[in-house]
Amino acid sequence: MQGWISINGKRFGCIWLSPMAGMTDPAFRKICKAHGADYMTTEMVSAKAICYGDKKTPVLARIRPEEMPCAVQLFGSDPGIMAEAAEKILERAEKDGTLPAAIDVNMGCPMPKIVKNGDGSALMREPEKAADIIRAMCAVCGKIPVTAKLRLGWDGESIHVVEMAKSLEQAGAAALCIHARTRAELYSPGIHPEYIGAVKKAVGIPIIGNGDVFHAADARRLFDTTGCDGVAVARGALGNPWIFEEIHAMLRGEPYLPPSPAERIEEALHHFALMREDKGEKVAVSESRAAIAYYTKGMEGSARIRGLMNTADSAGRVIQILRDYQKELQEQI
Ligand SMILES: Cc1cc2nc3c(=O)[nH]c(=O)nc-3n(C[C@H](O)[C@H](O)[C@H](O)COP(=O)(O)O)c2cc1C
Repeated sequence: MQGWISINGKRFGCIWLSPMAGMTDPAFRKICKAHGADYMTTEMVSAKAICYGDKKTPVLARIRPEEMPCAVQLFGSDPGIMAEAAEKILERAEKDGTLPAAIDVNMGCPMPKIVKNGDGSALMREPEKAADIIRAMCAVCGKIPVTAKLRLGWDGESIHVVEMAKSLEQAGAAALCIHARTRAELYSPGIHPEYIGAVKKAVGIPIIGNGDVFHAADARRLFDTTGCDGVAVARGALGNPWIFEEIHAMLRGEPYLPPSPAERIEEALHHFALMREDKGEKVAVSESRAAIAYYTKGMEGSARIRGLMNTADSAGRVIQILRDYQKELQEQI
């Protein structure tokens, strides 16, 4: 039976929103929390950009009280810079009045522009450096836990997630999220949950399983086959924040009633309003093409709506497209 996850003595629920660059912004975090996400993480934030005083980056690491519990995720590969960035983020968070639930280290991003600098999943090839990063960050984070999110290894020839998890635990990591693919596999369908199970057996800290959870049954399978303490959902939550309710209903043994198409569009409008409030009209309109269009996925006429959204150049137009579509869907009933 799944229950609570204890990280450095603090209790959290077990269904998490996995970090997604460009997606898990404050607006989406608020939406996911309202739908039952128990713990969330910011988009990945560049440690170098924080240390070198980039003006735009600190906002990515800012958490409001209503998004808690939420961790800030950093990417980078220099232990000193990672520690300095963590320190700066915590100083700023203290001034703002909301300390993050944890500082998480990205050891899984497979993007060429990240790994070419030795960051993200490139750290899977340098386990000693990865442990040094955790040690350096723990030394400055005090009571705030340091966690990490990793893959299984660089490729099928170098799967050493179990050894790496043990050494990160020894270095001070308070919890680990394991995306059960190698870097070489990117996001190709199919995961290797047996490695999550092996990590769970090898360490004493909480292990969050991640990969291909699109329905409650996928979460159930991940819990049952690996013994993981929690499950993190990424793509399955895009346009479908109800997945957290679906998984919680399953865990309680209760039925789950999915939202109607019109309700989905209503939530898309709400999400868009939050984005607009947070980022202003211009950015919200441009980002709505991805974030908001997801809500229409699989619905009749959704390709046409996505096409229209791509041409929208104002908030009024985005809202009109969605309202017209909602009316159309209601008339079909
Ligand atoms: C668009 C996108 C952006 C992502 N950005 C991040 C990120 O910033 N940090 C991170 O640790 N993982 C990131 N990931 C990986 C996800 O957190 C997750 O590990 C992966 O998608 C597998 O989970 P899923 O099958 O539930 O999608 C991203 C994935 C996607 C699809």
